Amino acid sequence: MIEITDELRNLLNPDSAVAVLTGAGISAESGVPTFRGEEGLWSKFRPEELANVDAFMSNPDMVWAWYQHRREIINEVGPNPGHHALARMEEKIHDFSLITQNVDGLHRRAGNKNVYELHGNIQRNKCIDCGKFFDKLPDEASDKVPECDECGGKIRPDVVWFGEMLPQDIIHRAFEVAEKSALFFSIGTSAVVQPAASIPVMAKQAGAYLVEINVEPTVITSYVDLFLQGKSGEILPVILEECGLA
Ligand code: OAD
Repeated sequence: MIEITDELRNLLNPDSAVAVLTGAGISAESGVPTFRGEEGLWSKFRPEELANVDAFMSNPDMVWAWYQHRREIINEVGPNPGHHALARMEEKIHDFSLITQNVDGLHRRAGNKNVYELHGNIQRNKCIDCGKFFDKLPDEASDKVPECDECGGKIRPDVVWFGEMLPQDIIHRAFEVAEKSALFFSIGTSAVVQPAASIPVMAKQAGAYLVEINVEPTVITSYVDLFLQGKSGEILPVILEECGLA
């Protein structure tokens, strides 16, 4: 039984300012592994060996092959009912923003347009030397790191690695939309990686009603206004239905 409070019912309407932060959990039901927990990527791989620029410089082919493997998983799956429910929210609500830590692109594939990708996008690549972006690569399937056709530099995935800054314009916009939101959802994130984790907290401090959806409690659960425990792909469609937005 999902508890829809009066506040949630009243605030989830076409004229409200609504913002959402998502993490790996929203894509779990699509078959994309999360990072933490027993089955998470970081229980099998060491971030320091794979997700940082030093690892890439010392062993570019290994890092590239790992990202190719993750791309293959993502290409084989599609958005789940949780992604589709958020796309529906954007259709119905005029002031709707979706902030995501995910690099899988599944929100856009579901139809969301107003998306702030804090940690980049795994399908996009860029040259580490001249910064040229590549949406398409000469040999998409190769496990060997490709080289830039302009300058010969190595091409890397356009994702944020440990120790790197987030894209500043995107993080600023994310804080802005959180600050002006009346209703804020934190969905499928362990809420431990900064600065993303402070966005829901900041939204509530600025006056938003804060709803968390997760299969288990997180570090922010005691702080939120409403914690809905369960799978986002099951809870979000019910919320839409109950609030007359389905
Ligand atoms: P985590 O793997 O840390 O957390 C995933 C969260 O999703 C956990 O709290 C799970 O309980 C929850 N979850 C799992 N399945 C769910 C479901 N079906 N419905 C709802 N919740 C579910 O992933 P993130 O919080 O996204 O950063 O991790 C944040 C960042 O840490 C990532 O963006 C990545 C990683 O290091 C970078 O790579 C820069």
